[in-house]
Amino acid sequence: MRVLPNKNRHYLHQIDCPVGGTVGPAREGKVLGLVGERMSAKPNHSLIHMMNTSFELTVNGRARQVQVDPATPLLYVLRNDLEQKGTRFGCGTGACGACTVLVDGHALQSCDVTIEAVAGRTVLTTEGLADDPVGAMVRQAFIAEQAAQCGYCINGILLSVTALLTRDTTPGREQINEALNRHLCRCGTHVRILRAVHHAMALVNTGVRP
Ligand code: FES
Ligand code: FES
Repeated sequence: MRVLPNKNRHYLHQIDCPVGGTVGPAREGKVLGLVGERMSAKPNHSLIHMMNTSFELTVNGRARQVQVDPATPLLYVLRNDLEQKGTRFGCGTGACGACTVLVDGHALQSCDVTIEAVAGRTVLTTEGLADDPVGAMVRQAFIAEQAAQCGYCINGILLSVTALLTRDTTPGREQINEALNRHLCRCGTHVRILRAVHHAMALVNTGVRP
């Protein structure tokens, strides 16, 4: 992890993204109505418009194009511009996992990656899980195990488990813990979530409900 000097307040923490580009709290002031370092009571729309750039990406198998500031978090683009409301906003700082999506098959916190970093990539959100062979089984397993209380954390967890079982159909306890490490569940549904992961593993490997 590289920690940038405070003068660059837009990216206090940046880490290398597994798919390339910039990952870090993408809470760029400009997308929140800030201009430079100062909050303006009324966003300067002409300035914001000038900063907008066209980006193309594939979301749930569909080619999409958006015109946004390059520093806009992917989470905001998914929810505000592409109607993918299943991607949750939790902490906004990359700490809770609620906003997790798959970018080229890698689980990433979408609040923590800019649209610029994922331009041209393939994104899978919870809305696309049913059309993903592994994702559909993961979803089925979580429903069968009723692995949720409020459910706020579950969409992100479904995607991390899908990424895990796509690359490794027989993960051990360590790999499962690692995949779920970035997810917080305030309802304490962990036991049922783990049961659902094992249920999903059985489905992926045998197609048979355990
Ligand atoms: S909202 Fe992105 S990690 Fe919490
Ligand atoms: S089920 Fe409520 S936060 Fe996880």
